[in-house]
Amino acid sequence: MAAATRNPAAVGPAATLGRAVIFVGPPGAGKGTQSKEIARRFGVPHLSTGDMFRDHVGRGTPLGLEAKPIMERGDLVPDAIVMSMVEERIARPDCSGGFVLDGFPRTLAQAESLAKLLKARSAARPVVLHFVVERQKLFQRLTGRRTCKVCGEIYNIYDRPPKVSGRCDKDGGELMIRPDDREEVIAARLATYEQQTEPLIAYYRNLGLLEDVDASVDVAEVTGRVLSILGRVQ
Ligand code: AP5
Repeated sequence: MAAATRNPAAVGPAATLGRAVIFVGPPGAGKGTQSKEIARRFGVPHLSTGDMFRDHVGRGTPLGLEAKPIMERGDLVPDAIVMSMVEERIARPDCSGGFVLDGFPRTLAQAESLAKLLKARSAARPVVLHFVVERQKLFQRLTGRRTCKVCGEIYNIYDRPPKVSGRCDKDGGELMIRPDDREEVIAARLATYEQQTEPLIAYYRNLGLLEDVDASVDVAEVTGRVLSILGRVQ
């Protein structure tokens, strides 16, 4: 899990988030790439449940040992485990000025639990950014993804290669392929998304919280689209 240093000046003196921003979309849609950038610009924490689980897996904690085979199959970790982890994280003081949620919620039960948590904190209404990208592009993005073992920076051998092959531009860390980016696991993850996460689109649309983002264009253009939505809803 990456928690950005608080630095509101990154987007100008008046820029504050003041709410939860939720990134929803299929695997490979660019949620991690964009949510990290938005968190950095607004100086708020970037909360990725996927990164949290990968951290537990890497450290071999009991939670990691439970999550590892589930993630390698492309299934979802049980809601109760996810919720206790998220609840503890968003209760920390650094989330008081808003935060970015990457890959959470992923089921209706998670979305309903999050709504209760936000209500209990009298938080502003969240913004839900729904990333839309066609399936063929998702496969290319996922099979081409490389991630820094040290800082988690995300690259792509087709669209966003590092300057030196296999090494992170920022810290020279080794770039790795995620174990769930094998083609057969990608197909399972996409099926899981369609069955368990896509119903959230209608749920949030009915609540008037959903903003569709065409995320098939290049990284900088998607960032611009997200910033313009966030500027409009502030
Ligand atoms: P998680 O880590 O959340 O994975 P995911 O949702 O499958 O999403 P990805 O990280 O694969 O893709 P992304 O949309 O972030 O794309 P990225 O920016 O990296 O979850 C992993 C697993 O953990 C789950 O399968 C599940 O088991 C478990 N889990 C996590 N959260 C859970 C929850 N809430 N409940 C239950 N279980 C949970 O980009 C991908 C590639 O594309 C990169 O190479 C990037 O450089 C490139 N790229 C990005 N944007 C562009 C662009 N605009 N143009 C060209 N290339 C681009």
